[in-house]
Amino acid sequence: MPDKAHGHEQVGTRRAFLKSTGTVAAGLALGGLSPGRAAAETLAVNGGPKAITYPDDRHSQASRWPLYRAAEEEAVLKLIRHPSYEPIGSLEEDWKTYTQSHYVKAHCNGTSALASMFFALDLPPGSEIMVPSYTFFATIVPMRLFGLVPVFVDINPLTLNLDLEDVKRRLTPNTRAILPVHWIGLPCDMDHIQAWADEKGLIVLEDAAHAQGAELKGRKMGTWARMGIFSFQGTKPLPAIEGGMGMYQQAADYERATTFGHYSVPGSFPGGSVYAKYNGTGLGVKFRMHPFSAALARCQLRGLDERNRAGAAQVRQLNDRLLHLPGLYEQTSGRKDMKRIYYSWNMLFINEKEAGMSRNACVRALRGEGVLTSAFSYRLQHKCPLYAESGWWHHKPMIPDLPGSEQANATAIPLPYFTSEVPELLDQYVKAFEKVWAHRRDLG
Ligand SMILES: Cc1ncc(COP(=O)(O)O)c(C=O)c1O
Repeated sequence: MPDKAHGHEQVGTRRAFLKSTGTVAAGLALGGLSPGRAAAETLAVNGGPKAITYPDDRHSQASRWPLYRAAEEEAVLKLIRHPSYEPIGSLEEDWKTYTQSHYVKAHCNGTSALASMFFALDLPPGSEIMVPSYTFFATIVPMRLFGLVPVFVDINPLTLNLDLEDVKRRLTPNTRAILPVHWIGLPCDMDHIQAWADEKGLIVLEDAAHAQGAELKGRKMGTWARMGIFSFQGTKPLPAIEGGMGMYQQAADYERATTFGHYSVPGSFPGGSVYAKYNGTGLGVKFRMHPFSAALARCQLRGLDERNRAGAAQVRQLNDRLLHLPGLYEQTSGRKDMKRIYYSWNMLFINEKEAGMSRNACVRALRGEGVLTSAFSYRLQHKCPLYAESGWWHHKPMIPDLPGSEQANATAIPLPYFTSEVPELLDQYVKAFEKVWAHRRDLG
């Protein structure tokens, strides 16, 4: 379970501060129930009244996503009436401006942007890329198309992001690149990762599929590494139902990645490009984004910062009233020089020892109160059969033990990321947690 060694300093400090100022008692009383009343109320799993009385349909609607309105409908309708690829180029221009980037390429999804990125690396077969196992298949599997092999690295169970100390231990003679993932919108320490990679002569890449608008030191995620990608799939913070974007610092990478899946774009490369001659053939696949998706992404981009801001503010309103509970933690790196965003979940963790109850008992009781949560476990890639079969790979990936990833899966208590303002529901979530914590000795 998370402990101080895994980055609990900040949370611990905050708890100490709350205790010293008497804010714990105030928080309990303001959140929902006074400590005495919370203990007196019977848990819903034991036949008591539910803490959450919010209507079920409104509860599930509170995390509805994507939220499309008249602007999106009009944009798609316009394309039906006047079919055109124009939105793709316009989205690329908008995205360059938004991220302050020179080279971007819209793709049909994040997976195809990742495949193009691996192709653009042009590394000899057998080259290895360090990558967290705690990620979606698309961060890893397309490597094999180019003879690249993953080196699975662990995550910090409190950030759900790659653990640089573990990365350092797992460096191999064949390692050529490192690929961090900004999990559910929390920026990785790209400055520290880059500094170490420079020392070792490694290429830094970036999977920003979940991090549209997140920043570190005022710089957008997706623009830190030599190449990176975004996903605009329908659950993502910039939802286009399906879509993706490749990000490149260098013209040569942009041209090579683009030539792979865009047969008609090399004609636009400047004279002297070694890839211009492949206009009309490309290199074998077609990764063009659907213009409907580009149109949706352009509409959604207009409200992106405000949605991210409001969503993060609402998470704070909830978590700031929960984190005084013993053994309860949130996904955080503790860095003040970054702007995180949220995607899909507000991820909490339980330290069973400190909380005095098991995750399963806690989740069962929370669900009884009406909280939308589960004993969540994310699929770890290194445990999937694909990586154990040498036939799919240049050489068989090493299958390591990854205790941080296991710990994340044993301790996570995901809450919904509410995408509309629901103050009354937040009050009820606080009440549910306080009730369960007040009974934690019985549950334990
Ligand atoms: C971390 C990560 N990388 C890449 C992708 C791939 O994106 P797409 O679904 O657009 O292909 C996803 C999609 O969920 C993802 O979660």
